[in-house]
Amino acid sequence: MKNYEKIIVALDVETEAQAAALVKKLKGKVGVFKIGKELFTACGPSVVKKIQKLGGKVFLDLKFHDIPNTVAKAVAQAAKLGVYMMTVHTSGGFEMMKAAAVAAKENAPKGKAPVILGVTVLTSLDDAALKKIGFKDNAEKQVIRLAKMAEEAGLGGIVSSPKEVKKLRRALGKEMVLVTPGIRPLWAAAGDQKRIMTPKDAVKAGADYMVIGRPITAHKNPAEAAELIAQEI
Ligand code: C5P
Repeated sequence: MKNYEKIIVALDVETEAQAAALVKKLKGKVGVFKIGKELFTACGPSVVKKIQKLGGKVFLDLKFHDIPNTVAKAVAQAAKLGVYMMTVHTSGGFEMMKAAAVAAKENAPKGKAPVILGVTVLTSLDDAALKKIGFKDNAEKQVIRLAKMAEEAGLGGIVSSPKEVKKLRRALGKEMVLVTPGIRPLWAAAGDQKRIMTPKDAVKAGADYMVIGRPITAHKNPAEAAELIAQEI
């Protein structure tokens, strides 16, 4: 995989026009375009098709978490749309993840099943918040346990903070795809991200893909920002 292909750009915008403008600027400079809850809720499947028509691969980051039947049906629709990657919450349980993995394979065009990534512990939750929910493990233990369960259930990878990548790389098989947000190149502002890592260090730790938003999308020349990041790796 080339360095630029490891970059996933977070399209954290509200309209299809804004998303399309970014895709046109960044095509061939990054690997994948991430559509999250805001953009998808505003624009629906139309924005997925638009990005694909422009030649971009889509990461549909809707973090499904529901009963297995419901999640399987939603995953089937995403697979039919031809998305490249998508997310589910590992805390939805083993059966939910298994149903998602099966639905992805059965409904995608042949050989094009989306990579289903498991979200373990949201980085907004610290150990105190986890205890309050009723989880007995600390965040680190919980992340590793859920990630192993995801692997066993047939998911294709894990989304995690860059600080967890090294441990996950050791705990999981090498075919598991590791995707990490919280990436800041040396020259970019941290913004609200706290536990950040540079692109180079994240790849060194074992990340396959990095989700990068504002350092690229808020840059006056997004294509140049993406090129700088690929060079930095
Ligand atoms: O602009 P920035 O690079 O901070 O954007 C990061 C993207 O990754 C956003 O879409 C954000 O929602 C997402 N994300 C994150 N931290 C997580 C999970 C997802 O920043 N733990």
